[in-house]
Amino acid sequence: MILWLLACKPAPPVDSPATESPAPDSPIDSAPDLRPRFANPPEAEDLDPAEGSARFELTAGTLAQLVQDPVTGEAVAVEGFAYNGSTPGPTLRARVGDVVTVTLTNTLDSTTTIHWHGLAVPYAMDGVTWTDQGLAPGATFTYTFTVTRAGTFWYHPHFDTDRQVDNGLYGAFIVEDPQDPPVDRELVMVLDDWESPDSVAPPHGGVSDTHGADGDEGLWTVNGLVRPVVEAAGGERVRLRLVNASNSGYVALSYGGMRQIAGDQGLLPALVEPEQLLLPPGDRAELELLPSDSSFEVMDLPYSHAGGAGWADAEAMFAVEVEPAAPAATGAAWPFSGAPAPESAGPSEVVWVLSGELGGPWLINGERYPDVTVPRVVLGESAIIEVRNLSPSDHPFHSHGMEMEVLSVDGVAPTAAQVEDTINLAPRQTLRARVTPRYAGSWMMHCHILEHADGGMMTVLLVEEE
Ligand code: C2O
Ligand code: CU
Ligand code: CU
Repeated sequence: MILWLLACKPAPPVDSPATESPAPDSPIDSAPDLRPRFANPPEAEDLDPAEGSARFELTAGTLAQLVQDPVTGEAVAVEGFAYNGSTPGPTLRARVGDVVTVTLTNTLDSTTTIHWHGLAVPYAMDGVTWTDQGLAPGATFTYTFTVTRAGTFWYHPHFDTDRQVDNGLYGAFIVEDPQDPPVDRELVMVLDDWESPDSVAPPHGGVSDTHGADGDEGLWTVNGLVRPVVEAAGGERVRLRLVNASNSGYVALSYGGMRQIAGDQGLLPALVEPEQLLLPPGDRAELELLPSDSSFEVMDLPYSHAGGAGWADAEAMFAVEVEPAAPAATGAAWPFSGAPAPESAGPSEVVWVLSGELGGPWLINGERYPDVTVPRVVLGESAIIEVRNLSPSDHPFHSHGMEMEVLSVDGVAPTAAQVEDTINLAPRQTLRARVTPRYAGSWMMHCHILEHADGGMMTVLLVEEE
């Protein structure tokens, strides 16, 4: 097994091989003290501590990393990318209603941008290069926008996206709601994967369309750590914010007693207790952990791009080591809305059909970005979009500039309001969703498997005033 880490950190020791098909809540399978301790990503300093605003500075640059060659055991230096010298980049944290200002300086030798994934921002601040040029090497740009929805979001480049994200340019963006109940501990986990445990293709593994197709997800890291151990005390309330920053890897987390409180657009309408949590590339979710008297392993179940389970064994993603034991706390009083699903009314105004073959090209309505037909909808008015996946692969469909209120998947309405910016569509699935654009612009809509997106599975929705 390879291990990789930031050059400035001590190497986690080589650990035991993955367990074979462990039960989802099996006890920790190797001596926990041989595994790295979990740490949150660094937090960016708010340079404008006044109420109602937050200001951050980010520098996109290169980062030397050490990767251990699995054959020779030697450390190999590879060059990756990072924001402020760290991958994941620093967590940006604001409060609902804040005016956020982020100055980006590009010290890379290629053009870059930042896109605020999941946040609806004015078009000129969205970091896309459909109509804009992006930041040339050496350039600085100041993004500014108001955050209107609480939740767990993330930021990443939107130029040469597949390569730049794969090389390490990503970070979490948290919008807090002051009404949320306090918790004892908040964990931020940014997940990324390596193509395969025996590949040291620098820096984060190569890319391939078959990646994950047999359910073998390669080697996952949590904030750059392999199978870290989270320490928690019995009786604590822990809020866990998850970001899947992988280019193409699916995460299917499982452990006993999972409590999901939020999806990719903030709190769910009610607590959900799923058997597993599927996080496709680009997606986020929040869990509430209520540890009591036993340590447990959080497993990543095999998931195939071709629509479900795969051949591989479940692998540990991280462990929760509980000490000391104490009775579990009750769940916090999250301000769940209880909102119902919207009424599904009317024909779809915009239809996008996803097609392609393994190996590509990946198309939307038979077209390959940037040579796409651009439908138009009216600013401030609701419209119904429909996305049909006629290809043999899953695609996490992502909307810029507006969230999607799910009306139905395969004709079945959700049991409660379901609001998404990134939603996975398995082969043959059809999504109908309502969008109500708040900003004019030429909004990108695309698959968030980044080699699919860069390979052409992107399109544009024009939002204009009447
Ligand atoms: Cu994560 Cu078009 O973005
Ligand atoms: Cu996005
Ligand atoms: Cu795709």
